[in-house]
Amino acid sequence: MFYRQTWAEINLDAIYDNVANFKKYLAKDKALMATVKADGYGHGAVRVAQSALRAGADWLAVALLEEGIELRQAGIQAPVLVLGYVLPEYLPLAQRHRLSVTVPDYAYFEDIAARVSSEEPPLSFHLKLDTGMGRLGIPSLDELEQMVQAYMRLNHASDHNLLNWEGVYSHLATADEQDDAYLRRQLACFDERVELIFKSGIKPRFIHLANSAGLIRQTTGRHTNMVRLGISMYGLLPADWMGGLLPFKLQSAFSLYSALSQVKQVPVGHGISYGCTYRAREEEWIGTIPIGYADGYSRLLSNRAHVLIDGRRYPVVGRVCMDQMMVKLDRPYKRNQRVTLIGKEEDSEVSVDELAGLIGTINYEIPCQISKRVPRVYVGSKPEVQDLLSKDRHLV
Ligand SMILES: Cc1ncc(COP(=O)(O)O)c(C=O)c1O
Repeated sequence: MFYRQTWAEINLDAIYDNVANFKKYLAKDKALMATVKADGYGHGAVRVAQSALRAGADWLAVALLEEGIELRQAGIQAPVLVLGYVLPEYLPLAQRHRLSVTVPDYAYFEDIAARVSSEEPPLSFHLKLDTGMGRLGIPSLDELEQMVQAYMRLNHASDHNLLNWEGVYSHLATADEQDDAYLRRQLACFDERVELIFKSGIKPRFIHLANSAGLIRQTTGRHTNMVRLGISMYGLLPADWMGGLLPFKLQSAFSLYSALSQVKQVPVGHGISYGCTYRAREEEWIGTIPIGYADGYSRLLSNRAHVLIDGRRYPVVGRVCMDQMMVKLDRPYKRNQRVTLIGKEEDSEVSVDELAGLIGTINYEIPCQISKRVPRVYVGSKPEVQDLLSKDRHLV
């Protein structure tokens, strides 16, 4: 239940279609891991995960142990990989909830081998290789060799089947860039390391490398059998130029709505918002909208962004405040008139990409930033998602 007139609408049909289309685009022998970290990139992890799984996703990825537990508590049974660092003392929780964890280096492996609990189900892990992202993962062949030897020693010790080496992966740093020189280097580095692991006789079940950009440009890696789809599952491109590479259209799943809380005429010279960075140039109609930077509508959008009302674009004037902002109108709209801050109305659109471009960031950040106090309302018309839809849809 919510009382405010500001909400984000998440179109589960779009998530479903994007995943189903990528599943068809993907080679038949490869699995699809749907990345639902950061509360499903701000869309709501549980609903996104459920829609993605129904559309054919095989795995889910989260960043935190908490995020994995949230999926399990919602009754989701699919395999889940925690991509981020998990403190070793919390590994029994990962075991209990059957969450696979990331091993970022040899020392961590040693630590978990010593701590893994025999009172819980076995712990599955995916080894992370740093092939050029410079974030988590083993960068050197020597350390990888050490890790392989340690795992084999452990495996030969008769009573130790508590650790299951389930996967190997790495992350691409430049797959969204047109110049593919660095991408090729990462691919070659990954191949070499995977081959080293295979040669030792260890055959982890899942090998994965590509993110959305890697998948879109069909560079998923020679030995891989899974991809990790993120941003494009939500209908957004990792980079503009990639649009032409896909044989299907992505459908953006995220819209943001509010409603006018006041409409008034102000005299010439009247200041709008803190600092009066905008002053009426004539008698002007000003509309107030109950959304602000505490809702994740960035203050950097002050005097820059536009909203849609009745299919027309109106500029944000003055500074975005914590809970409210103002727009300049060309007519006296009624109070409660619906406003689209992200989304489509008739032939007009304010896209996530447009807002990201205005504040010099990437599209990923925009829905992630929309804060928890903005309710997510789930819509869709497909039979596959009907039971996932919000019951208390807002009626503005
Ligand atoms: C390790 C890892 N894999 C996959 C993804 C998904 O990437 P994208 O959203 O670009 O598809 C991310 C997202 O940042 C990630 O950190």
